[in-house]
Formats: sequence, structure tokens, C-alpha cells
Amino acid sequence: MSIYTASTTAPVNIATLKYWGKRDKTLNLPTNSSISVTLAQEDLRTLTSVATSESFTEDQLWLNGQPESLQGERTQHCLQDLRNLRSRIEAQDSSLPRMSQWKLHIVSENNFPTAAGLASSAAGFAALVMAIAKLYQLPDSHSEISKIARKGSGSACRSLFGGYVAWEMGSEPDGSDSKAVEVAPQSHWPEMKAAILVVSADRKDTPSTSGMQHTVATSDLFQERIRNVVPKRFEEMKQAIQDRDFTRFAELTMRDSNSFHATCLDSFPPIFYMNDTSRKIVKLCHQINAFYDETIVAYTFDAGPNAVLYYLQENEAKLMAFVHHVFQKNSGWDTKFSQNDLEKFSEV
Ligand code: PMV
Repeated sequence: MSIYTASTTAPVNIATLKYWGKRDKTLNLPTNSSISVTLAQEDLRTLTSVATSESFTEDQLWLNGQPESLQGERTQHCLQDLRNLRSRIEAQDSSLPRMSQWKLHIVSENNFPTAAGLASSAAGFAALVMAIAKLYQLPDSHSEISKIARKGSGSACRSLFGGYVAWEMGSEPDGSDSKAVEVAPQSHWPEMKAAILVVSADRKDTPSTSGMQHTVATSDLFQERIRNVVPKRFEEMKQAIQDRDFTRFAELTMRDSNSFHATCLDSFPPIFYMNDTSRKIVKLCHQINAFYDETIVAYTFDAGPNAVLYYLQENEAKLMAFVHHVFQKNSGWDTKFSQNDLEKFSEV
């Protein structure tokens, strides 16, 4: 009996304008539009391979070598949508194998810590949906597929594109217009780099879904954010990307991270994603920008304590000189920079 297979990788995306809040929990419809930068594939990514055969008896998933359940409601939504699309194609062409009826075996692997606020669910669901779409030979519309990935994990819809991506919240109750679109390809502003400072690789305390629900239900500041802050910022940030205006982009990114974490603190009881080290990084970035009298770095934090720093390639040495000086006693530097590089940075 034939086995059909497909593989794909999906990169992590890190929001520079955060998605936080659902207006529909089942369909993963957000309370605001968001923007992200997709990281380079060779850095943080999920690799997913899928196989299907008439002989398979159950859907199975292995995540980083461990068997995992596929029974979650959100995963089931994605699988059902993909099977429905496949069965429509099969109905039009009787020569196609009836894959929509068969079980799937899925093997997925992250090259970074899972669920540590490093957007693993985004890359994970994007890779899962893309791999099955490829296996099923579904029409190749990234925005259409992004609507399925969105049902797995909201932010996953943005990992369907490289470069600079917007997730338009949409207004339709069925979610048909809540999708990811490209703001600009990576080649529009290739000098943009991201550095991740892993403050902790542990699983996060409050998963994003329950954290969001809690903020929506209890924070007054949240209402101000979605009504009066984010809509304007969404347009401004797209413009800053179009104009390749790093100073503007950086300020909007830092302000948005602070605004999102402020709504977490304003939840009752409060949610703390950032820790003392995270706050030290925030201070350091402002000090670096003040020292150079120019904005060379922007920080942003997701639902965890790890920092993502955005900067332009030309400023890497200037930035790392400071970061290394402050965190030189911490381990892990040799993964990306050699000791030589770091000594060079320290001399700047
Ligand atoms: O997609 P989720 O449910 O993991 O939520 C992501 C939430 C943030 O990472 C904090 C923000 C974002 O836009 O990615």
C-alpha cells in the first residue's frame, strides 16, 4: 500500500505589535490586528514531516521525539479544515487517492526550547498546516492557508510569510477575513537582524490563551489599548517598515511591548511574564540608545521573560559590545558568536 509524504519548515515570527486578546476563542479571532517580523529559517524553525496511507489506523504526532496528543480542539480544527479542502479536490478528480479519509503520521521538531515564550506554537502550527497542505496538494495561497493555521495558534498565521507580516483582525464573525498578509518581503529591508537573549528556557507560567482571556476579562487598560492605541500604531508601524525608518520602527516596537506587558500587570490578579533580567535588558537598551544618541536597538518580549532585540546589521558590533559587557558572565555565547568576536565587540 502506498505511503505519501511531504515535509516543510516554518520559521518563528516575533510580533513587533502584539496580538493579545481573542474576540472568538474557538476560531481564534483577535481583538486587534498585529505585525511581526519572521526570523531567518536557519535560526529558529520547526521542521515537520507528514505521511498518510490507507493502512494507518490512527492519527499520530511525535514532537521532538516524544509522542503527543493530536486530540486538542485547536489541532482537530486544523486537521478537519485541511481534510475538507482535500475532499473537495478529490470530489472533482476521481483519479486522486482518497487521502482525506486516511490517517496521518506527523513528526515535528523544533531547534529551540518549546513553549518558553519563543513563539514555538507559531512555527509549530504553521509547519503542521503547510506540510499537510503540501501533502494534499492544496492550492498555494498563503493567506488562505494562514486562516487554518490561525485556528491552531493565532500567531501561527503570520509564520506563513517571510519578512514583515500583518495579521489583519478582520470583522466577519466566521473569521473569513482574519488572515495574514505580507507588509514587505525580507528583501525590502534585509539589514534588519534579531538577537534572542534567552533569559529562561523553562515552560512559561501562564499559557498565552488563558493569559489573554484573563486580561480581556479583568484589565481596564486593555480596553484603552485595543480601542485607542493599537489601530493607530498598526498603520504607523506598517509605514515605518515601508519607509525603512528604524528609529520609528524601534520606538513603536518598544512601546508596544511595554503596553502589552502593562495590560498583563493590570490584569487582576496580575500576570508577570517579564522578570528582573528582562527589566535589566529594557534598561540596557535605553542606555545603549542614549549612549550613541541614536536608536540602534529595540526590545520586545512575548509571553515569557526572553528578549528579542531588533537592530540593523551595521550596528551589530556596537550593540553586542554593550550586551556582552553586561552579560559576559552568562553562558551560551559560543552558540552564535566566537570568543574572538566577543572580544572584538568589547573593544568598540
Ligand atoms: O498565538 P499565541 O496564542 O501563542 O499568542 C501569541 C501571543 C504573543 O506572542 C504574546 C503576541 C504575538 O502577537 O505573537
